[in-house]
Amino acid sequence: MIELKNSTKIYELNRVDKVVALNDISLSIKEGEVVVLKGASGSGKSSILSLIAALSKPTSGEVIVDGKKISKLSDNFASVYRRDNIGFVFQKYNLIPSLSVRDNILLPLVPLNPDAKDAEEKLALVMDMFHIAHKADAIVKNLSGGEQQRVAIARANINNPKIILADEPTANLDEKLSLSFIEIVKSLKALNKTIVIATHDPLFFNLDFVDSVVEIHNGIIS
Ligand SMILES: Nc1ncnc2c1ncn2[C@@H]1O[C@H](COP(=O)(O)OP(=O)(O)OP(=O)(O)O)[C@@H](O)[C@H]1O
Ligand SMILES: [Mg+2]
Repeated sequence: MIELKNSTKIYELNRVDKVVALNDISLSIKEGEVVVLKGASGSGKSSILSLIAALSKPTSGEVIVDGKKISKLSDNFASVYRRDNIGFVFQKYNLIPSLSVRDNILLPLVPLNPDAKDAEEKLALVMDMFHIAHKADAIVKNLSGGEQQRVAIARANINNPKIILADEPTANLDEKLSLSFIEIVKSLKALNKTIVIATHDPLFFNLDFVDSVVEIHNGIIS
């Protein structure tokens, strides 16, 4: 369902200098799979997630999701694609610290102008699922790191996306919280979500429910 075909990503720093972040990458991920992208800092993991989320376009090559060439979408269609298909858990969670838990989780629904009852139902569902309902009215900046991460995961799931992308999800967590994140991934897989995790955390490299660990070195899959 997710396919990168000979994708190259070059960042032009100025007229002379450029960085080849991804060099002719081909990768195929089936529906319901959990794939771990493993690689050193700067190897290209986040660049791959950005391509799948249509947050950036490959310099050459194609990205195809459910048969659709998302690397060709205009910005407007790319944001519709993201809204309907992608839940993104950012490394630094990208929450709004001054807002409550409920308002942060509801944010992706705002552009949809949702029916209030429907929004409340979706909110209740994800807050229960990720064990954050007891903090619904707390202001996010007062939460612990693990709680903030559960808010970020709840927000990524409020639209019930088929694809979850997580960038270094355990970078700011201790081992116990990292293990509970892994349990969350397992439960999302049981719901047949397709999950791509960029990480260098060894906890992810030997999990029985992970379908493949893809190693990236200097923008090349090895
Ligand atoms: N917007 C950008 N402009 C210029 N260079 C960039 C940009 N984004 C990434 N790069 C460069 O592309 C390469 C790959 O970066 P990427 O963020 O994909 O790596 P990563 O594997 O996610 O690293 P980390 O583990 O540190 O998050 C790096 O050399 C990085 O400096
Ligand atoms: Mg990264």
